[in-house]
Amino acid sequence: MEVPEGLRGLREKALVEVTLPSGDTAVMVTRYKDVRKLFADERLSKNIARPGVARISADNELFVDPEIDADPPDHTRMRGLVTKAFTARRIELLRPFAQATADELLDQMAAGPRPTDLNEALAFPLPILVICKLLGIPPEDRTKFRSLVDGFLSVTKLPPDEVEESRKGLWAYLIDLIASKRANLGDDLISALIKVRDEDDNRLSEHELHFWTQSLLIAGYVTTASQIGTGTAVLLHRRDLVKEIQADYSLVPSAVEELLRTQIMGSSIGTLRYAVTDIPLSDGTVIKEGSSVLLSEESANMDESVFTDPFRLDIRREDNHHMTFGAGIHYCVGAALARMELQVATESLLRRFPDVRLAVPAEDLPRGLGGFMEGFSDIPVVW
Ligand code: HEM
Repeated sequence: MEVPEGLRGLREKALVEVTLPSGDTAVMVTRYKDVRKLFADERLSKNIARPGVARISADNELFVDPEIDADPPDHTRMRGLVTKAFTARRIELLRPFAQATADELLDQMAAGPRPTDLNEALAFPLPILVICKLLGIPPEDRTKFRSLVDGFLSVTKLPPDEVEESRKGLWAYLIDLIASKRANLGDDLISALIKVRDEDDNRLSEHELHFWTQSLLIAGYVTTASQIGTGTAVLLHRRDLVKEIQADYSLVPSAVEELLRTQIMGSSIGTLRYAVTDIPLSDGTVIKEGSSVLLSEESANMDESVFTDPFRLDIRREDNHHMTFGAGIHYCVGAALARMELQVATESLLRRFPDVRLAVPAEDLPRGLGGFMEGFSDIPVVW
């Protein structure tokens, strides 16, 4: 439950060699200063569909799409179109929806059995219903896309043929979804992207439209759900912190940031990159041209030279510039949305059930292994 011991001392070297679940090796950048700079450095390419690049999974070409150029200038063009549709206004409009949804889910939880799994009661349904609303996806589709996304994100969970089935199934689902939305445009983000595509087809290709819809759907709930679940579990394990928040709910935003900083969802979400040339780091070591590179947000978030007492969970921490949403040209498009949902989930749960607590010792919470996210797979709570 505590921050993993392995993160201590990791920054003694600016660059460490790591073995990925596939068995391939990559280098991992450990220090905050380097990680932050390299997130914005075009000498690290995100186009990893090239020979010799390490694989995260031996059975799944996670996030590799040779038809998508994930580097500037193409990425800049596509990302600009997506962020334009992702307006602050759209997100603010979603707050009352997220609040009403959380309240309804907590009503259902109150009427249900105890203990209840917090993942299924709140952590997953909340972001799923919010992303459905944002993208304009019928919420009835959620059982279907959730199992396809689960397969899509398998690292070692499923054999290659089942991964392939999920990838194809998800793509086929998106083709149908986009066709039906095209026939009936609404005031949602996918409709906005379809309009961009159809009104000026040089700006967004059909494949790019599908790819970004897929990215938004996957990134839009899996990460947030995992963070709501594991972050809340950590908080419930620390009854003193729960009481502190309940005495002053203005602490919710800084508590949410601190739980993001010390996230224990497992694997680093920053995806793999490729060094197009030699890149020297702060201590003089060099990332060699052709290396596969991971920028470790977890390690950067524990950097003693940036965060005072980094292994302490301090829900009042100020200037918490953690790297959990990445930085630079790929900075998380959904960061504001995720923050809003995390705040709504945390505050609503603690207000509605003042005595909510884990039903098992924190050490007994099982991890969901073999997928891209390794948050707790079952979080039984009582109240
Ligand atoms: C707690 C929740 C979340 C976390 C921790 C998170 C984390 C991240 C990180 C670290 C990156 C950068 C990856 C890289 O540079 O390799 C990223 C990118 C991205 N995120 Fe999030 N994310 C979260 C929620 C969301 C949500 C809610 C959405 C959408 C609704 C979203 C959409 C995206 C997209 C589309 C990108 C790719 C941006 C690009 O390549 O330019 N994320 N996220």
